[in-house]
Amino acid sequence: MERPRRLRKNESLRRLVREVTLEPRHLVQPLFVHLGKDPEPIPSMPGQYRHSLISLEEAAGEAAELGLGGVILFGVLPAELKDDLGHGAYDEEGVVQQAIRRLKRRYPELLVIADTCLCEYTAHGHCGVLHGHDVDNDETLALLAKTAVSQAAAGADVVAPSAMMDGQVAAIRKGLDAAGFKDTPILSYAVKYASAFYGPFRDAADSAPAFGDRKTYQMDPAAGTWDALREARLDDAEGADMLMVKPAMAYLDLIRLLKERFDKPVAAYWVSGEYSMIVAAAERGWIDERAVVLESLFGLRRAGAQFVLTYHAAKAARWLRSG
Ligand code: PBG
Repeated sequence: MERPRRLRKNESLRRLVREVTLEPRHLVQPLFVHLGKDPEPIPSMPGQYRHSLISLEEAAGEAAELGLGGVILFGVLPAELKDDLGHGAYDEEGVVQQAIRRLKRRYPELLVIADTCLCEYTAHGHCGVLHGHDVDNDETLALLAKTAVSQAAAGADVVAPSAMMDGQVAAIRKGLDAAGFKDTPILSYAVKYASAFYGPFRDAADSAPAFGDRKTYQMDPAAGTWDALREARLDDAEGADMLMVKPAMAYLDLIRLLKERFDKPVAAYWVSGEYSMIVAAAERGWIDERAVVLESLFGLRRAGAQFVLTYHAAKAARWLRSG
């Protein structure tokens, strides 16, 4: 009789046959930064903050000390500094640009990724330039390229376009190359769905669209694998260096699919709503946060994610360290 239980008999055997690895380098911590002088807790994401430039340095220091794969930065602007063209996104003195410069000065070895999008900086909260109620794809491209160049100029190690405009990876690659940043890699949010799981992020970044939704540019969860393959193929051809799937748990099939079909690292973004659900259930004592988070991260790694962007990154790295 086949007895799979033989190899589960004790921890020594389980350890021997375990093939999925999870290390701090596989985890990227998203961090929010604002211009206020104090960090503000984010109510819908317990344990996460809108950092000040000072507290951001502390959080980044912790990420470096834990050996995380890196951090990804999101800027938060007060309403009075937002405008229709999202100038704050590509301002040399913008909040993210200042943050990148500080972090790279203080922790040169820490990988700093910049999210490249306009929605945190536009008054209407959409990810591009509006014409009436329509986001104009091609006009947005130039602003995204400008944003990426300003982030690379500030010292970002990687830029991560998340606006879901067609042709954005090509436009950004061209802009970076022309500005002398031909070695700055692009982590593309290639397969990004119009998802209800982004709710807490939009509270955190105050980036909910003022009207409508993002369904004309983010993907339809019911579309099927053809749409995911098409988006990934285009970003691959446009020069993305790494491909991301977002959200994570409801899209494990696509992580696996991209891993099998493309010869580029695949990342997963385990997003805000996914984080908050776990934290909320754990606060009620309904689940064991540590066990659920590590189990899920193993699942994402097994599915094919080389690294995972997760609000649990620092905490998970501490759990891994404590064994
Ligand atoms: C910006 C962006 C969003 C997220 C990452 N980059 C919000 C959105 O698309 O509405 C969501 C991340 C999360 O929910 O954790 N476009």
